[in-house]
Amino acid sequence: MFTNDSTPLLQLVLFLVVSVNTQLLINVKNQGGDVLQETITANVTDDTVTLEFQRSDGTLITQLIDFRAEVQILKALVLGEEERGQSQYQVMCFVCHVNKDEFISSDAMSKLRQKNPGTLRTPEIEKEKELYDMNMLVEVSRSAAISRHIASLCAEASDATYTRTVDVESWVTLPGGPDRRRLLDVVREAPNPASTCREAKGMWSPCTCRLETCIGWYPCGLKYCRAKDGASYRCGIRTCRKCHRYSYYVRQKQLCLWDE
Ligand SMILES: *[C@@H]1O[C@H](CO)[C@@H](O)[C@H](O)[C@H]1NC(C)=O
Repeated sequence: MFTNDSTPLLQLVLFLVVSVNTQLLINVKNQGGDVLQETITANVTDDTVTLEFQRSDGTLITQLIDFRAEVQILKALVLGEEERGQSQYQVMCFVCHVNKDEFISSDAMSKLRQKNPGTLRTPEIEKEKELYDMNMLVEVSRSAAISRHIASLCAEASDATYTRTVDVESWVTLPGGPDRRRLLDVVREAPNPASTCREAKGMWSPCTCRLETCIGWYPCGLKYCRAKDGASYRCGIRTCRKCHRYSYYVRQKQLCLWDE
């Protein structure tokens, strides 16, 4: 059983059925005009949603929302420039606090179906760009104190997993959240280099790198409709686009070649 939303453009509907396949493939046009394919997977058991796509420059972006721990992990796998002496790829992870209401729940996500797969999706809402100042490093091997998904997702970013003081403060104040002492044992302050990588002289100097990425389309809320008897019911989703800009320490400018 489902009901169409009042807006004819909304082609995603919530089916009130038990889900079998919890993966959605979404075609989105980025601002450069390229079409990207996003894969969105919900895991109700884990209470997570994972969104993944490859940018046109080859960078692979994975965003995992751990609703239970109120953690958002953004992983970027950037392909190296071999002719400039870089290894084949480098991986960074940015771990931040997330408000549960910025996304629809994993349960609602797992029930989303597309009426017309292949359609090019356009988000309804453009969110303001969020600037993340990643001032702390996370010890990945002990990161389960923050979220048990960090260790598996960020295994290749053991020296490049970052968080912020403000996120740590949010997690320790969560009801049933992690113990402050245990959490402070997992993070340490990152060095604060004087220059940005853009300005840094020489490939070997430490600097503050910037990485910007946009999530072109994601379900950011539920829509409610009113039945004839006045009761309200879930009848669709609200969709958003949001850009993120992360600033973080790198020990050598050559780990930040895109920010020139
Ligand atoms: C969901 O998470 C559980 C627990 O981690 C895992 O066993 C299961 O394989 C996951 N399901 C999918 C579809 O990935």
